[in-house]
Amino acid sequence: MEKYTANTLRYENGMQYNRCGQSGILLPKVSLGFWHNFGSVDPYERSREITRYAFDHGITHFDLANNYGPPYGSAEETLGRLMEDDFRPYRDELFISTKAGYDMWLGPYGNWGSRKYLMASLNQSLRRMHLDYVDLFYSHRYDPETPIEETLQALVDIVRSGKALYVGISRWPLEATRKAFQYLRRRDVPCLIYQGKLNMLNREPLEEGILDLCRESGVGFISFSPLAQGLLTDRYLNGIPEDSRMSRGKFLRPDMLTDELQEQLRELNAKAQAQGETLAEMALRWILQHEGVTSVLVGASSTTQLQKNLRCVST
Ligand SMILES: NC(=O)c1ccc[n+]([C@@H]2O[C@H](COP(=O)([O-])OP(=O)(O)OC[C@H]3O[C@@H](n4cnc5c(N)ncnc54)[C@H](OP(=O)(O)O)[C@@H]3O)[C@@H](O)[C@H]2O)c1
Repeated sequence: MEKYTANTLRYENGMQYNRCGQSGILLPKVSLGFWHNFGSVDPYERSREITRYAFDHGITHFDLANNYGPPYGSAEETLGRLMEDDFRPYRDELFISTKAGYDMWLGPYGNWGSRKYLMASLNQSLRRMHLDYVDLFYSHRYDPETPIEETLQALVDIVRSGKALYVGISRWPLEATRKAFQYLRRRDVPCLIYQGKLNMLNREPLEEGILDLCRESGVGFISFSPLAQGLLTDRYLNGIPEDSRMSRGKFLRPDMLTDELQEQLRELNAKAQAQGETLAEMALRWILQHEGVTSVLVGASSTTQLQKNLRCVST
């Protein structure tokens, strides 16, 4: 691929930015996730094309985790390679996050929420990504066995060490989230953002009060899997395409596509068409209209998908 020079019009391409809670950070309404399509099993040149396209269109936020790949760690290695090949000159224009909380390495210290795991994992992530610091480090899930203070103090100390500029939490239950926001604020390391699954098929963060709590606490909210892993697009309206995530069957299984769900998707698609938009656009816009939502964190297996999804902000 030819040498990369970012599009000089990247901030005039239609992207809009939302303030993340009560912080100094603005995030693009659409952010890019590296969970799928950026592992060493995926073609590097395609990953490179998608990220170039993203940055050229104002997507300044890339979201990773220690175990994204496959194999685990390899999405961060891809990001490291992208930094060397394309993005080093633009480091200060990028907002890069990673996480720890799920199984990463063998033995008692490679999972959940201990100080030992979070600290060691972030060190490994920085090495893989060829970064001195991340902009945002998350506890990827709540650990009911580890004292909440241990996990949260590790987050505080990570910020104080300079290895992350901000911290966030993902998938924590409501009461633990409330405690986390208080604990972190009292130590002058306020939680920047909560990452949760909110989409037209999964409204838990609304129903359980997480989004309200974020809004009241001045904490941002970013929605992961906003297209329900592709269900809320035209991908599965007529069966299961061979090159789709569902055909690979690990995280989105064919048995999830019941007749009832397919009917619901067709109805939503008809509604979107009647409004003159695609199902994906409608689904993303639906999330972004909620007060307190900072960004939607999409995945994409091609530049064309990302291009289509960006229409939710540019039209
Ligand atoms: N905190 C957590 O625990 C957690 C959990 C999950 C995800 N996340 C974050 O959220 C990010 C996004 O998750 P996700 O990948 O599940 O998001 P998603 O946007 O709901 O789904 C992305 C997938 O949908 C399909 N797709 C996207 N746009 C399309 C379009 N316009 N037309 C047709 N198909 C389209 C593609 O799948 P095909 O492969 O079928 O083309 C794509 O890989 C992750 O990368 C990660 O950063 C976080």
